[in-house]
Formats: sequence, C-alpha cells, structure tokens
Amino acid sequence: MQLSIVVLAAGQGKRMRSALPKVLQRLAGKPLLAHVLDVAAALNCDDTVVVYGHGGDQVQAAFPDSELKWAHQAEQLGTGHAVKMAMPSVADDRLALVLCGDVPLLTAPTLERLVEQCADGSVGVLTVDLDDPTGYGRIIRDDEGQVRAIVEQKDASAEQLAVREINSGVICAPSTELRRWLDALSADNAQGEYYLTDIIGAAVADGIAVHAVKGDDPDEVMGINDRRQLAAAECLYQHRYANALLDAGVSLADPARIDVRGSLSAGHDTFIDVNCVFEGDVVLGDRVHIGPGAVIVDSEIGDDTVVHPHCVLEQARVGARCQIGPFARLRPGAEFAEGAKAGNFVEVKKARIGEGSKVNHLTYIGDATIGDKVNVGAGTITCNYDGANKHHTTIGDDAFIGSGVNLVAPVDIGAGATIGAGSTIAKEAPAGKLTLNRAPVKTVDGWKRPVKKNK
Ligand code: UD1
Ligand code: CA
Repeated sequence: MQLSIVVLAAGQGKRMRSALPKVLQRLAGKPLLAHVLDVAAALNCDDTVVVYGHGGDQVQAAFPDSELKWAHQAEQLGTGHAVKMAMPSVADDRLALVLCGDVPLLTAPTLERLVEQCADGSVGVLTVDLDDPTGYGRIIRDDEGQVRAIVEQKDASAEQLAVREINSGVICAPSTELRRWLDALSADNAQGEYYLTDIIGAAVADGIAVHAVKGDDPDEVMGINDRRQLAAAECLYQHRYANALLDAGVSLADPARIDVRGSLSAGHDTFIDVNCVFEGDVVLGDRVHIGPGAVIVDSEIGDDTVVHPHCVLEQARVGARCQIGPFARLRPGAEFAEGAKAGNFVEVKKARIGEGSKVNHLTYIGDATIGDKVNVGAGTITCNYDGANKHHTTIGDDAFIGSGVNLVAPVDIGAGATIGAGSTIAKEAPAGKLTLNRAPVKTVDGWKRPVKKNK
C-alpha cells in the first residue's frame, strides 16, 4: 500500500512560553518539525501533509522549498480534528501515518516496523512502557492482550491510570476507514476535543485489527511540551550523535561535552577535545586534532591538521598538516593550503594562505592571496576597506613581511620581497628587494613628562 504521512504541527505549545510556534523551537540547531520531516523523508512515502495553524505563516516560511503539502487548521479542536483537516490531501486506499511535530527523536526503522504491521490494512499504534506515564494516553488491552482503546490521562479511571503502556502519538491506519472514523468523532470528553485516539475504539468496533508496536527506546517517542523537555531531548540527541562518532572511529575527550548542530563527519583517529560546537556541515579528515572550545561552522579540515584551543572557524577550508590557533578566527572564504599556519589572535577572511606560509600573531588578513612559504610578521594588517569598497592584497611566494606592517590595498608584494617592520605599503613592493618606509627616529633633549595638576 502507498504511504501518506500526516504531521500534526498546529498547536501553540503554551507551555514553552515563547513567541515562536512550538514546532519551530530548535533542537540541535534545527526546528523540531524539521527533525520530524527528515525522518518522514527517510521513509518510502508518496506525500507528506503538514497540518499547521498556530503561527502558520511562520511555520510555512520555515520550509519554503520543500515539496510538502499544507493543510490549515484554523482552530485547534484536537488531534482528531487536525488529522481530518489533512484528509482532503490524502487519497483513498493508502496507509496514513500520523506523526507529531513535537516528537522529534523518532527513527525511521521504528516507523518502518509500525508501517509493516499495517500493510494488511490493519491499524497500528506505536507504544512504549514508561515508569512514569503521567500525561500520556494509556493503551487499554482486553484479557487476551488485544488493544481495545486509548484513554487520555484526563478521561482515565484510577485503574486505567495505572497502565504504564502509553500512546506515543504515532498512529497508522488505512486512509479510507480513517476518513470515516474521523467524520464520526465526537468531542464528548474531559477536554472537549476531537481525539485522534478515539479511532482505535472505532477500529475495534468495526472488527479491524489493531496492533500495538512497542518501541524499544522510550527516548525515541519523547514529546516536547516545555523547555525542560526540550533541553532533555537536546541531551539525548547529542548523546546519540556522540556515540555515533565514537562508533565511527572518532575519539572524544568527553562524549557529554560535544554539540553537533548539523552534520559532522570525520575520518579515523580524529580527536575532539571538550566543549566544541559544530554547526552546519563540517568535514574533518584523518588524525585531525581539535582543541577544546572550538566553534566550527560549515568548514572542512584536512588530515593531520591541529586546531589549537579556542578557535572559531566559519566557512573555512583548511588543508592537511596545518596549525590553527590558539584563539584564531577564520571567517568565510578563509583557505589554508597544506602546512600553512595561523597563530594566536589572527583573523583571516576571504583569503588564501599558500603552502607552508605562516601568519603567526595578532594579524588581520582579509581579501588577500598569499603565496607559498610567506612569513607574515606580528601585527600586520591588510587595510582592505576604504569605507566604500573592499580591495585585494597579493603577496608573492617567499615574501617576508616584517612586524607591524600596514598593507593598504589594492597592493601587490612581489615574490621574495622583504617589507621592513612598521612600514605602510600602498600599491606595490618589487620582488626580491627590501622595501620599507619608516619615519626617522627623533629624540627630544630636555623633554619633561607632564605632571598631574593638584585640584
Ligand atoms: C497526544 C495523544 C496522547 C499521546 C500524546 C503523545 C491525543 C488525543 N492524545 O496527547 O494519547 O500519549 O499525544 O505525545 O491524540 N495538534 C494539532 N491540532 C490540535 C491539537 C494538537 O495540530 O488541534 C498537534 C500538536 O501541535 C502536537 C500534536 O498534535 O504536535 C499532539 O498534540 P498535544 O496537544 O501535544 O497532545 P497530547 O496532549 O500530548
Ligand atoms: Ca504533546
């Protein structure tokens, strides 16, 4: 049977106390709903319908170029009503899989297990046993262990409240029957809502089999209703990611102290020290060493490179055997060829540093092309901005730039040129020669330091 996925994302999430709709709250740097849509995309489904309502424009705007279908639920009258709003976009004779936009840690294999159970046109619900089932709908079984109904916390009897098997909120049902059951729902319950969960009782009454598929991992079905749960889910997510890195052959100084908000891939024997944050797409080579406190965003780092403590890299490409930091900042467009070096308090933006070149201390290199084996002295600045436009600096191979040099771009330093310390160089310096400009040193005899006046 073909599969349609319905994602419920219309709720406000009052308990978040946020101006943002709940499904746009971020887990590992990504909206909750994006996590759910990613797992939906991993299933072999034909279409995905998102039911939106609260903060609707914001929710749709967050997913501009996806091939999603959207169904509007103007008033949040309950999960059953929400699914009903999606049904015009779901064809007959399919399986409809309902996911919640606030259950972000589900995995595709678990959902596949549920969907397989329903392939014969039966109804499936994903359940787990919880030590503390408070707040969740309880799975009610008969003496033979057959699922008979789901009863919400607020409607449950004392005996039902004692049941530890709960509804994860994930339900799979044949679309033709689902449509009929949803049309017949009533809101005659403690919350005055149309409950999706009432379709279980309807299926039983129609003689259609209901399977409860038990998830092995209660963490997977965790629903996010408040910021405590969001923080707890973040921990679980990061723990999962850290374990996957360890399994892939990456060493972590402390798996509890790494944060990946995006994707991080690394070759073998790479080591990551504590308190590093990775965002977007980060690719590390083999035997890379990342020192503590690094923030690395959308960057690539080659084999055997060392990133010393407390560096910030964004959209940087660092080749093999480089040394970066400590305390270096590589901004978008920073490119380091093999064996290049950036030392402490060095900022590099939109610039290529050639093979084996060194920019060791307290320097700003922006909009520049630096050749191979160049040495840039401490405190050198590319003056790349005239207040209106950016200009380029070119430094040839083997050049030696003394300390405290201002390179006023556009400027071209020839190969093998030497620039004297403290010079301000505009336009060019010829290859192979010493160029410097330095004001003559003056000593004033008999000069007295000013003395502080008494008030
Ligand atoms: C629901 C289930 C409960 C289950 C729990 C698992 C029902 C009646 N109850 O309860 O059995 O144990 O999930 O987390 O289904 N939503 C809409 N429109 C609405 C109402 C809700 O889109 O009118 C969306 C919410 O945004 C949310 C999801 O549906 O993503 C679940 O709604 P929520 O109110 O959180 O249901 P629970 O009370 O948690
Ligand atoms: Ca919920």
